[in-house]
Amino acid sequence: MKLIIMGPPGAGKGTQAAYIKEYYHIPHISTGDMFREAIKEETDLGLEAKSYIEKGALVPDSVTIGLVEERLSKPDCKNGFLLDGFPRTIPQAKALDEILHNLKMKLDAVVNIAVDESVLVDRIVGRRVCINCGAGYHIRNQQPKQEGICDVCGGSLIQRKDDTEETVVNRLKVYASQTKPLLEYYENLHLVKSVNGIGDIQEIFKNIQMLLGGNE
Ligand code: AP5
Ligand code: MG
Repeated sequence: MKLIIMGPPGAGKGTQAAYIKEYYHIPHISTGDMFREAIKEETDLGLEAKSYIEKGALVPDSVTIGLVEERLSKPDCKNGFLLDGFPRTIPQAKALDEILHNLKMKLDAVVNIAVDESVLVDRIVGRRVCINCGAGYHIRNQQPKQEGICDVCGGSLIQRKDDTEETVVNRLKVYASQTKPLLEYYENLHLVKSVNGIGDIQEIFKNIQMLLGGNE
């Protein structure tokens, strides 16, 4: 399975990706997670990405495309991958076409999580993530067994720096102007499979499995 998962900030891409990667045994490639890891490690990439992410702006394509190209060239992507948060602009989508062409790979589907904008701010502002493994939670919708502690690895749960109400407004604007047009781009290639992202998390995953079909 060679997949992209799309949807506005807070749609549930990361949440569903955790199930998809387990089920299909494919690596979950989240550019947001890669940038946050680089920020944590204080690498040159992290220093560059930080200022954009904290404003809710996009990291320049010149930085992001190279990062994804390098990741997709690794052997664990040979039989499939799940891209989350990339591509996010038309130039990124065109660059991805070229990268995949050079690697002799083809996309199977673009899963689009459709969520009404009215729930997004609450989802984002209420999100908590593990400082250690990045697993996602929500203060009401998806609580850990023990408050403030990650179920997966026991790490502390924190709030992402870009999960403030002010930054979210900008992230939603950037999504509408730069990323949403990609849906049409992939619809023209007959790759888009849309799922309703409101409702029970497990049910949404079942619907994604049905859309993608079969066991992999
Ligand atoms: P990124 O990390 O990709 O963030 P995003 O796209 O804004 O998406 P989120 O991670 O906020 O949302 P999600 O859809 O994963 O939702 P989640 O599953 O966590 O990017 C961050 C930044 O990095 C960008 O702003 C940009 O600066 C930079 N960047 C990244 N990629 C880039 C690129 N390609 N080019 C340039 N810049 C780039 O769920 C959200 C919350 O809702 C959670 O708390 C969860 O528990 C809850 N939830 C999930 N599902 C449900 C449900 N069904 N019902 C109720 N609650 C739910
Ligand atoms: Mg995410």
